[in-house]
Amino acid sequence: MSEPRTLAPPERRVAVVSGVERLGAYHLVTAHDASGPQYPRPGQFYMLAAEACWGGGGDERPYLPRAFSFARAHVEPEGVSLGFLLEAIGPGTRQLAELTSDDGLAIVGPLGIGFRPPPEGARPLLVGGGIGVAPLLCLQEELDDSTVLLGFRSAAHAQAAALFTGEPQVVTDDGSVGRQALVTELLAAELDAEPGAAVHACGPPPMLEAVRALCAERGVAAQLALESGMACGFGACFGCVVPTKDGYVRLCLDGPVLDAGLLETALFAGAGHS
Ligand SMILES: Cc1cc2nc3c(=O)[nH]c(=O)nc-3n(C[C@H](O)[C@H](O)[C@H](O)COP(=O)(O)OP(=O)(O)OC[C@H]3O[C@@H](n4cnc5c(N)ncnc54)[C@H](O)[C@@H]3O)c2cc1C
Ligand code: FES
Repeated sequence: MSEPRTLAPPERRVAVVSGVERLGAYHLVTAHDASGPQYPRPGQFYMLAAEACWGGGGDERPYLPRAFSFARAHVEPEGVSLGFLLEAIGPGTRQLAELTSDDGLAIVGPLGIGFRPPPEGARPLLVGGGIGVAPLLCLQEELDDSTVLLGFRSAAHAQAAALFTGEPQVVTDDGSVGRQALVTELLAAELDAEPGAAVHACGPPPMLEAVRALCAERGVAAQLALESGMACGFGACFGCVVPTKDGYVRLCLDGPVLDAGLLETALFAGAGHS
């Protein structure tokens, strides 16, 4: 696959945390990256670790850095301000959520292949589920005009919708914000209402599989930002392989954004890491 990608400098560097904002169920970690590329592609990701105390002690996880899509990249006089939206679900994400201003954030990236721009004249539909809304924030900033469809578990998670401009359509599992519905119901309605859509989606595997199937049935082009367990992030460990119609690919190199047409399914067995 020969997609354009922004290449990462070939080493780990340390960005400086400028703030950590609590947004309902999520945290927005912002850091100043003085020496990395200023224009990562939406959908690319960074491997992150707190500079200090990652692991904390002999047998304490996390040992490995963790993969995160960037949600924002704003050029600054010297470097770039990177924003990462994260959900604290385990030792790595909890430690990142506890960072404070001026802490060091060890980063490698940007890595992988992000979203390609929609074809000329197509109507971009951005479809996000839960923490998967993160890479759609910078994609919305890049596109002149797009329709944003978001699904969350609850009102606390749906607070992330406020980061989008305009009026994203929001549904929740419990009906606490918007209708009680799945985001794929919004997608089906949009696809059936008007032709010419180009879908860009990120979210949990069952959501992505439903997006893939809906688009396949209607012959609509879709790009899916997928996840698998990533130990290195740059092609060395083969921990992130996923099956495609062209054989297995390393998601960190050939993804994480793949054309939906390459997949029989977006449901992969989840892989953990240390
Ligand atoms: C390309 C990419 C982009 C990502 N972007 C974001 C982001 O923007 N925001 C965000 O909050 N998270 C993102 N993630 C997920 C994030 O990397 C994991 O949530 C994180 O590694 C969990 O680390 P932990 O130590 O907190 O929890 P762990 O204890 O390592 O994991 C907690 C649970 O989640 C499972 N898990 C961990 N990572 C994955 C994975 N990649 N796929 C499937 N299951 C997993 C584990 O098996 C375990 O059950 C991304 C992952 C990838 C691969
Ligand atoms: S994460 Fe190591 S090869 Fe992809």
